[in-house]
Amino acid sequence: MPSPLPLKGPLRLGLLGLGQITELMLPAYAANSDVEVVGLCDPDPERLARWSGVFPAATVTRDRRGLLEGSPDVIDVLVPTPLHAEVAGAVLEAGFHVQVQKPIARDLEGADAMLAAARASGARLHVLEDYLAYPPLVRLHDLIDEGAIGTPVGCHMKIVATGMGGWEVSPESYEWQFQQAKDGRGMLVFDHGWHQLAVAHWLFGPVRRIFAWLGATEIVPEIVMDAPSTIVWEHHNGVRVVLEISFAIDTYFRSSHYGGDERVEVTGTKGFARCNRISAFGIQEPSLVLYRDGEVRGFHALDDRPPDAFAAMAARSVAVFKEGADPLMDASVARQVLVTLLAALDSHRLGTPVDVPAS
Ligand SMILES: NC(=O)c1ccc[n+]([C@@H]2O[C@H](COP(=O)([O-])OP(=O)(O)OC[C@H]3O[C@@H](n4cnc5c(N)ncnc54)[C@H](O)[C@@H]3O)[C@@H](O)[C@H]2O)c1
Repeated sequence: MPSPLPLKGPLRLGLLGLGQITELMLPAYAANSDVEVVGLCDPDPERLARWSGVFPAATVTRDRRGLLEGSPDVIDVLVPTPLHAEVAGAVLEAGFHVQVQKPIARDLEGADAMLAAARASGARLHVLEDYLAYPPLVRLHDLIDEGAIGTPVGCHMKIVATGMGGWEVSPESYEWQFQQAKDGRGMLVFDHGWHQLAVAHWLFGPVRRIFAWLGATEIVPEIVMDAPSTIVWEHHNGVRVVLEISFAIDTYFRSSHYGGDERVEVTGTKGFARCNRISAFGIQEPSLVLYRDGEVRGFHALDDRPPDAFAAMAARSVAVFKEGADPLMDASVARQVLVTLLAALDSHRLGTPVDVPAS
């Protein structure tokens, strides 16, 4: 039986998978007094040792069953994406609420199996999508809702993957990504572009039609980055978005976490709002600007580093499970984002725009 909601005490969390993303997620949990990390699970003893010192009261186990025996309220599934369906599906079947990292799954069959397992056991299934908690993007969303740019009529998004300036990522964290890329789910379009499509769904609702023109750049023999790539789509509300993905290996962008340069610029009937960065913070201009009526307003006091998004995401999880707040991304929206992303990959193979099936 899943823990009855809303929870009365702290959110008792079990963590399944302790790789790279935990360096952003777990400090946010450690700093949140409403979260109690009760279990840590990873087959890798070094990764268990890395976090058991931070959460000394947590059960430490290399086996999923050991984690479930501690009866956490919620399990964060932080394993590689190709394992989401198997691992999260088993946890949901066992009757535990799950928060799984983005993308929800690598294919629709996997996502549907997870949704079915949640329905069968009555457990909740949410997706951890930090971009929807990144304060400059949240403010941009609010500006649109307040009518600050009039009615949205277009959007430009940009990802520039760079080779310099981010943190060290262990080769194992890339290994499954390179494997996953072999059938067309590349690191820049499928893994990173998921964030941008998630933001677009959050801002403008579901997508009607999409076209992707995907490139390939070999960085070392047999390792190919899926750029330059251009993806364009139209939402049911008529807003068109262009996502441009480039690979600029020798560009330096200062970052304490993931590197790269990102932009989200929404044009409205009366002006525009632009988020100037997300993962890296190389250029010291305000992370959000608003243009309207001949004037530019810069937002200089926003919390705009990646840990700020993860802290906000942790606070939202507490609000969801303890106060009944809406999740940042429920499983049905995540499924629709995946449907759209897979439609983009299909459109590239077919060489033509495709209609996105409704979820
Ligand atoms: N939000 C973001 O910006 C962001 C960034 C990076 C990764 N992610 C997502 O987080 C997830 C993990 O990515 P990562 O980069 O941390 O990967 P990683 O390879 O660094 O870590 C995965 C961890 O899972 C462990 N693991 C593997 N199988 C397991 C199992 N059956 N049970 C328990 N643990 C198991 C591995 O030992 C490893 O420690 C992916 O879904 C990825 O897309 C999100």
